Amino acid sequence: MIIQLVVWPDDRACDRSWLMDQVPGASGIIVMLSDTHTAFSLYSHKAAGPNLRVISTMSVGYEHIDLSAISQRGVKLGYTPDVLTDAVADLSLMLALMVGRNGAETMSLVRNGEWPNSPWSPFGFCGPQLSASPVSPTRTMGFIGFGRIAQATLKRLIPLGVTHCIYYANPSSPPKPSLDAELMTKYGLNSVKRVDLDELAKDSDVVFVLAPGGEQTKHLVNADFLGKMKKTAVLVNTSRGTLVDSEALATALHQGVIWGAGLDVVEGEPQVTADHPLVKEPRCVILPHIGSATLETRLGMATLAAKNLLGGIFEEAMPAELNLKSRT
Ligand code: GLV
Ligand code: GLV
Repeated sequence: MIIQLVVWPDDRACDRSWLMDQVPGASGIIVMLSDTHTAFSLYSHKAAGPNLRVISTMSVGYEHIDLSAISQRGVKLGYTPDVLTDAVADLSLMLALMVGRNGAETMSLVRNGEWPNSPWSPFGFCGPQLSASPVSPTRTMGFIGFGRIAQATLKRLIPLGVTHCIYYANPSSPPKPSLDAELMTKYGLNSVKRVDLDELAKDSDVVFVLAPGGEQTKHLVNADFLGKMKKTAVLVNTSRGTLVDSEALATALHQGVIWGAGLDVVEGEPQVTADHPLVKEPRCVILPHIGSATLETRLGMATLAAKNLLGGIFEEAMPAELNLKSRT
C-alpha cells in the first residue's frame, strides 16, 4: 500500500486554512496540543469524511480533542503517555526548588547588575527549604492527581528527606487500594494517604498539580484552596493551566497568602504577556510549557505518535490508544 504523507512545514501549530485544504480524505492525522482548532475543523468539515480512522496527538493530554465527537464517529485516538513522565517530573522538581529558593528572582538581580547592592547577608534571599532539616523535620508533599507523573515526582523527592505524601485523586478513577502501603514500604515514608482538597491544601509544604485538564478539574486550585494553604507553601503546576484560577493565584501571591508558585502552564496560554497579573508577581516563576522539552523525550513522543498513527490507519494495535469508552 502507498501512504501519502502531507506535512505542515512549520514548527508551530498549523494554519486553519492549510488544514482545511489538506484534511479531506485523510485516513489519519497527527496533531499537537497547540492545534486547538483541529477538533472543530475535523468534525465540522464533512469532507474529513469516512476515511478518517485515527487522530494521533503528540501529547499525553487530550483536552484539545473533542472525545465524544470522535468516539461517535468511530475515530481512534492515540496519545503519548509514559515517554514524557521523567521529563515532566524533572521539571516539577526544578520548579519546586526554583520557587522555594528564589532562583528566578535572584538570577534577574544578578543579570540586572544589582548584586553589588545585595551582598551576602544572614537572612538575605532566604526561602523555605524543600529538604527536611532539624528545624522542619517533616516534609509533606501534596499531589493533585496521582498518576504516573506525580509518582515519578514523588520518587525524586525521596532523597530530600520527604516524610509524608498526601494526594487528591479523581473519585471516579481512584488508585488501587494497596498503592498507599506499597509506596510507604518502597520509599520508607511515614505516611501516604489519599485526602480531600481541604486537607491537601492545609497540610502540604508543596502542592504539585498533576491531573488532566478539562471541565472536571477546572479551578480545583481556587481562592478557597489557596486560602487554606500554608504561608510558606509552594504551588507547582506542570499539567494544565485550567486547573488553577490565575486571578485567585495572583491575588494570593500579592497578599502573601502562600510563598510562591512555579507554573509551566497558565490558563489562556500562550497569551501570557508582561501585563499578566501572574507575570508581575516576583514569586511566580512561569515557564512556557516546556515540561516534556528534552530532545530525548520529544523524539520518544514523536515516534510514539507516528506508531499510533500507523496502527490506526492499518487497523493494527496502536501502542498507546486512549480508551474512549471509559472517558465519554
Ligand atoms: C504536554 O503538556 C502534553 O500533554 O504532552
Ligand atoms: C498523567 O497523565 C500522569 O501521567 O500523571
